[in-house]
Amino acid sequence: MKRSLTGIKPTGDIHLGNYIGAIKPALKLAANHESYYFVANGHGLTKPHQKEELHALTKGVVASWLALGLDPNQTTLYRQSDIPEVFELSWILATLSPKGLMNRAHAYKAMVDENEANSRELDAGINMGLFTYPILMAADILLVEPDVVPVGKDQMQHIEIARDLGLALRNQHKVTVKLPEPYIMEDVAVLPGLDGRKMSKSYGNTIPLFVEKNELKKRIYKIKTDSLPPSAPKDPATSTIYMLYKQFATTEEVKGLEGAFQEGIGWGDAKGELFRVANRELEEPRELYKEWLANPEKMERVLEDGADRVRQVSVPFLQTIKKELGLT
Ligand code: ADP
Ligand code: TRP
Repeated sequence: MKRSLTGIKPTGDIHLGNYIGAIKPALKLAANHESYYFVANGHGLTKPHQKEELHALTKGVVASWLALGLDPNQTTLYRQSDIPEVFELSWILATLSPKGLMNRAHAYKAMVDENEANSRELDAGINMGLFTYPILMAADILLVEPDVVPVGKDQMQHIEIARDLGLALRNQHKVTVKLPEPYIMEDVAVLPGLDGRKMSKSYGNTIPLFVEKNELKKRIYKIKTDSLPPSAPKDPATSTIYMLYKQFATTEEVKGLEGAFQEGIGWGDAKGELFRVANRELEEPRELYKEWLANPEKMERVLEDGADRVRQVSVPFLQTIKKELGLT
């Protein structure tokens, strides 16, 4: 069976972008792949944090996966920090990674650009964990040798870096390692947020997945729209409401909204319709999410069991790699 792997950082509440871009496709793959999904809490450390907050957010990510239908008997769900081999491999990969490759990585570049725009020192607030972020991610991936990595399009560059470092292992040290393919849903490559930019925890423009019904409605009504009057025809291709609607509605319903856009529909009515279909899909997981959160011991057992399963793969593979590099 082919393997699928993906990770989510515990740096904020799970939002619609995470769900549509990564979680939904990952759950689809889990039906016919040996799947490994994890909480990237080591990546979470690249941001300043409090331990209580990191704990709570980690639990939130785990509860989200479980509430959305991940079956822990079929899929291995784990916490990155429970797999020490990841961090060991990360060091090995760092020694194979040209520094220039990291200079070009977008998370780092974005911070540098922001510093420049605000006339700060270029590397202000940037730690080496953030700078080498893609190396740790490459270790996550290469160690488990997935065939596919379901992610949003913003992660494409990171997957390419993982492939580059995998090639370096192959070419410089004759380690046979699988090079993964990204699995990206092209029609939802980047889901826009309330302000029309990429929906992201970092921009504070998200619709969190498990907020209460009224809050969900409030967030949806905050989506930025233009000032066209209700009677004016509207273009679905440029509408955040339409893009989100497509993720939750049936084919019939989508056709219906397209028709309404052509004939003219008020933005308020379109938002109401979006709320209806989103809430329909999220109502049940929202309750399950609360149940999982109320059962931390049960989640802990899932994670421990997951770590045991990953280590059956990661321990022997890291050993092989170390042997090839002359470390053992
Ligand atoms: P954030 O950008 O909110 O910090 P993460 O970086 O933790 O989210 O992303 C976790 C997963 O969700 C990744 O696979 C990422 O590509 C995907 N993702 C995040 N935001 C979006 C979005 N707006 N559209 C599509 N996918 C997204
Ligand atoms: N960098 C990813 C993100 O920001 C999270 C992540 C860490 C990940 N390790 C990974 C995703 C391995 C896929 C595979 O969303």
